[in-house]
Amino acid sequence: MQHLIDPMDLTKEEIDGILHLAQNIIKDKEKYSDKCHGKKLATLFYEPSTRTRLSFESAMMELGGNVLGFSEASSSSATKGESVEDTVRVVGCFADIIAMRHPNEGAPKLASMYSPVPVINAGDGGHNHPTQTLTDLLTIIEEKGHLDDFTIGLCGDLKFGRTVHSLIKALSRYKNVKFVLISPKELKVPEYIITEVIKPAGLMYEEVESLEENIGKLDVLYMTRVQRERFFNEADYVRLKDTYILDKAKMKLAKEDMRILHPLPRVNEIATAVDKDPRAAYFRQVMNGKYVRMALILTLLGISE
Ligand code: CP
Repeated sequence: MQHLIDPMDLTKEEIDGILHLAQNIIKDKEKYSDKCHGKKLATLFYEPSTRTRLSFESAMMELGGNVLGFSEASSSSATKGESVEDTVRVVGCFADIIAMRHPNEGAPKLASMYSPVPVINAGDGGHNHPTQTLTDLLTIIEEKGHLDDFTIGLCGDLKFGRTVHSLIKALSRYKNVKFVLISPKELKVPEYIITEVIKPAGLMYEEVESLEENIGKLDVLYMTRVQRERFFNEADYVRLKDTYILDKAKMKLAKEDMRILHPLPRVNEIATAVDKDPRAAYFRQVMNGKYVRMALILTLLGISE
């Protein structure tokens, strides 16, 4: 039985297979509309979500399956002290596959060790968000045509941003990807990402603070939100939250074919005036998230094309 907890749980070939299947689904949705008939997905969300939970549920519905679950811990027996281990043992009696979001890093991993059905990590604290990464990879392919030979700028909260950590891990398997890591000193990417992921892969990277000075060299700009919920004190959040605001003036410095990605939700780090720019790919990215989750569900359930 295969789970997805960390993007590195999948080989590069498996990732490419899921992305290829997602592209086939985009081309012929009808072909897949009954593939999960009789199957159930449980979404166990101990932390808020709009995109991830609803895209998982929409994905299962579009495959002809059903969904059940909870969208906040307070409506589950976690409030009575039930452990994650017991919860998945129970939910595994009702569902064929589980998507779990949890504020505690490692909770979905723990769940996978006790679950009788596949567990998908839908985001664990500041750690990983592998299905957002699959979404991001599919979007880069759809927008740029390839996952090798490009320069990506990751901008904003690189310290707590689980989407950033997962995306760098996944991209480290592709050839000649250059990382421009744009953040204030306080929100730099964790050291292990540099020493254990980027450097062993032999990929080029630079850590910089200015978006204006670096945007012109990027093929993809991955903007992120400064995450209030991960800060230990409000004063630091207030001081750092407006460090980067992508607006029309900064977009004039970018390449004509650059693409802007953002895992969303956005607060104010991308001005709404940028939404009309054809280079803004973040709402197309949301749609890709549904297709890639359809492909992942089929893959983990072992349902063939
Ligand atoms: N990108 C993402 O994880 O969004 P949600 O928090 O709304 O699921």
